[in-house]
Amino acid sequence: MPTTTLSQADAGVGVKNGINAFGKKNFIGSFAPPFAVINDSDFLDSLPPQEKRAGLIEAIKVALIRDPSFFDDIEHAADDLSRFDPETLEKVVCRCAELHIQHIAESGDPFEFGSSRPLDFGHWSAHKLEQMSRFTISHGSAVACGLALDTLYSGKKQMLSGKAVTRVLALIQRLGFAVYNPLMSRIDADGNWLLLDGLREFREHLGGELTISLLAEVGRGVEVHEVDHSLIRKCIEELAQRYSLKISSA
Ligand SMILES: NC(=O)c1ccc[n+]([C@@H]2O[C@H](COP(=O)([O-])OP(=O)(O)OC[C@H]3O[C@@H](n4cnc5c(N)ncnc54)[C@H](O)[C@@H]3O)[C@@H](O)[C@H]2O)c1
Ligand SMILES: [Zn+2]
Repeated sequence: MPTTTLSQADAGVGVKNGINAFGKKNFIGSFAPPFAVINDSDFLDSLPPQEKRAGLIEAIKVALIRDPSFFDDIEHAADDLSRFDPETLEKVVCRCAELHIQHIAESGDPFEFGSSRPLDFGHWSAHKLEQMSRFTISHGSAVACGLALDTLYSGKKQMLSGKAVTRVLALIQRLGFAVYNPLMSRIDADGNWLLLDGLREFREHLGGELTISLLAEVGRGVEVHEVDHSLIRKCIEELAQRYSLKISSA
């Protein structure tokens, strides 16, 4: 019985059970389809704002890779969602859960033997950010930064239009998420950007070829197997310079 927006919308309705260990995200885990999941929206009433908000980022994520009309719906409902109107929240959580279940049931790889992870759009950097913060940054907040980064990168790779990039970043921010965290720019003594190590860790976690989802359109994800590190650094700098200011003045 999941009791948070994030678990009702995503984590609790899936088959994966992960435990963070040895400083790593989801280092230990199992795959086990639940017999049943009961999503009772009354649980959401007592959540603090940050936890109410957290599940919404997974809704934006799955809408971005799978369902353009769901993205439109979230956009239209943004004002109600930003004040956590219970009915609107429930509808979005429900559709988000439905899309996650649909993927698990119909993708042909529920136990993830392959390297494809469309539902992990934006997550390679999110998981690294959580680790770098020693898990003080919540999953929802980290995914907001991760989605912003991979959306901006999709734009810079000329896969996604500039208009769509602006639309996605605006929605993430309208729902009250920050799209940048200073940890994203942390550089070690040798000049390496620590966040980028998340790509190697993500590949190792997949146990095969690096496979990252990017966006071709709002509502359509595409998979790539290579990432241009210098372009990612430019995107991080742009998030820091252009977009974090909006948050502090909001
Ligand atoms: N297994 C998967 O497929 C999957 C998918 C997405 C995310 N995740 C993981 O799930 C974790 C996030 O879980 P979460 O967002 O459910 O957070 P959580 O379980 O950490 O709970 C967040 C906070 O809310 C409190 N809380 C929970 N229910 C409450 C309620 N009804 N009223 C008041 N307070 C309540 C908790 O005590 C806690 O302080 C992350 O680690 C994320 O990586 C897993
Ligand atoms: Zn997630």
